[in-house]
Amino acid sequence: MSAEPLRLAVVTASVRERRFGPTVTRWITAEARAYGRFDLDELDLAEAALPSWITEECPPQVDALRPRLAAADAFLVVTPEYNRGYPASLKTLIDWYIEEWQAKPFGFVSYGGRSGALRSVDHLGSVLCDLHAVPLRDVVSFHDAWEEFDENGRCREPEGAGAAAKVLLDRLTWWGTALRTARRERPYNR
Ligand SMILES: Cc1cc2nc3c(=O)[nH]c(=O)nc-3n(C[C@H](O)[C@H](O)[C@H](O)COP(=O)(O)O)c2cc1C
Repeated sequence: MSAEPLRLAVVTASVRERRFGPTVTRWITAEARAYGRFDLDELDLAEAALPSWITEECPPQVDALRPRLAAADAFLVVTPEYNRGYPASLKTLIDWYIEEWQAKPFGFVSYGGRSGALRSVDHLGSVLCDLHAVPLRDVVSFHDAWEEFDENGRCREPEGAGAAAKVLLDRLTWWGTALRTARRERPYNR
C-alpha cells in the first residue's frame, strides 16, 4: 500500500438553515484525521453555493471547485435524507461535473430519522454508478441522529461509531489507492 496520503474530499451535503450536518461532518472528519492516511479537503455545499440551473457556460463558483474535485482521490459524503431522497444540493454538485467523479470511490456517512438516510445512499449509488464512480458498500449510518450526539456535538457511542468509521475508512483507503494507481497507469475513459 502506497505511503503517499490519499486526498479525501469530505462533502457536507445539507445547506439548510440550522442544519445538523456539520455536527456529523465534524465527527467523521476527526475520525479521518486520526486515521492518519488522508490529506483532507472539507467541502461544505452551503459555502460552495453552486447554481442549481445548469448552464452551458460554467459559472465561476463551478470552475473554482473543479481543481479540488479533480485532485480528490476519494470522496466521503455526509448526507441526510429529505422525503426519501438525498438533498438537491448534492444532485446539483453531481450534475455540474463529469470526469472529476470517474473511477473514484465514494463513501457515505448518512444520518436521519428511523431510516438513517439509507435510502439516500441507495439513490446515490445508482446515480454515481452511472457517472463511472465507485460507491462503497460499507456505510456509517446514524438513525435518529440527534440522539446519537450530545449537546456539545460529541458522539454518545464513540466506540461503536468509531468501529464503523474504521471499516469505511479502510475501504476508502483500499479503493482510493487502487484506483489512483490505475488512473495513473491508464487515464480513465480515454
Ligand atoms: C423536508 C424534510 C424531509 C425529511 N424527510 C426525511 C426522510 O425522508 N427520512 C428521514 O430519515 N428524515 C427526514 N427528515 C428529517 C431529517 O433527517 C432531519 O431534519 C435532519 O436533521 C436533516 O439534516 P440537516 O439538518 O443536516 O439538513 C426530513 C426533514 C425535512 C426538513
